[in-house]
Amino acid sequence: MKKITKSILAGGMLALSLGFATQANEPTDAVMTIDGVTIPTHVKAPAGSPLPELFSGWVFRSTETQAMQLDDFDNPGMIFVDQAWETWSTPEGSAGKSCADCHGEPESFAGLRAVMPKWNEAAGEVYTLEDYINESRVKYMGADKWKYSGGKMAAMVALISLQSRGDIINVKTDGPAAATWEKGKEIYYTRVGQLDMSCANCHEDNYGVMIRADHLSQGQLNGFPAYRLKNAKLNTAQGRFKGCMKNIRATPYKVGGEEFRALQFYVASRGNGLPIEGPSVRN
Ligand code: HEC
Ligand code: HEC
Repeated sequence: MKKITKSILAGGMLALSLGFATQANEPTDAVMTIDGVTIPTHVKAPAGSPLPELFSGWVFRSTETQAMQLDDFDNPGMIFVDQAWETWSTPEGSAGKSCADCHGEPESFAGLRAVMPKWNEAAGEVYTLEDYINESRVKYMGADKWKYSGGKMAAMVALISLQSRGDIINVKTDGPAAATWEKGKEIYYTRVGQLDMSCANCHEDNYGVMIRADHLSQGQLNGFPAYRLKNAKLNTAQGRFKGCMKNIRATPYKVGGEEFRALQFYVASRGNGLPIEGPSVRN
């Protein structure tokens, strides 16, 4: 297996085992403008980044897929945002409250998505947006948790993410959050599965390369949740991690579990400097 991974980096056996094309395509430099607002999709990486420059996953998509994200009326992810608007003001649970009763308009969460996940002082651990939403449901609404990667959760995360569209990601990784970040980093660089690959083997060493019919990106989270044409729904970050692990024939970690939450924190921090785009459109 080691041999395969070595040749992966050399671009040899990789083409045979996974179907990578031999040529490395450059990401396009198309400009993203939504609602008259221009959102950079290619930025210089901050000091200390493992990447020389940062690319939104959008630049690796086909012109047709890119176009769907440029117009909110064409973006199928927005249908789910509309659904979340309804959920937002619908009372649920034993307290008989809706999100709106305590948080007002979704705009009150402007900027929040760009700093997520973050250290939650009261809980004493790093919380994803999903964690915060479920905590509100259980603790403040007396309602059941939503499925971590389910439709209702993805839609609400999309509605909240939209309030941070264009905001620059600034995930804080120091202080008490550092241990979780280290854990996520270790998972990111650990080879797993029958193909003996790590996240970094694809998204750091080989972005820009074609893998089967897919143009490999840096695996950034700035576009999440992402509407995928493949499954016609909004996909959460951890839903995507699960798919990537399955593709390398590894047993995925539990969605909502400690490993994936740490991984989401670490991967989010690799996007520090990129603007938030969610909900994005992907193939
Ligand atoms: C009964 C009041 C109440 C309801 C209803 C409620 N929340 Fe909360 N929510 C809170 C409180 C209190 C906090 C913690 C204080 C804080 O950090 O803002 C919080 C925190 C949050 C946070 C983290 C905010 C941050 O700045 O860190 C998010 C996100 C959130 N709630 C989303 C929701 C969503 C979505 C709903 C509806 C499904 C909801 N909440 C329903 C009271 C409520
Ligand atoms: C065999 C190569 C491979 C490995 C290993 C891999 N992925 Fe992926 N990943 C892909 C492909 C192909 C896609 C779809 C095209 C793209 O966006 O890169 C993708 C997409 C993604 C995306 C979506 C990016 C976007 O903008 O929509 C994220 C996030 C991601 N991967 C994270 C991970 C993480 C975290 C790991 C490690 C657990 C991992 N991937 C392992 C191949 C891989």
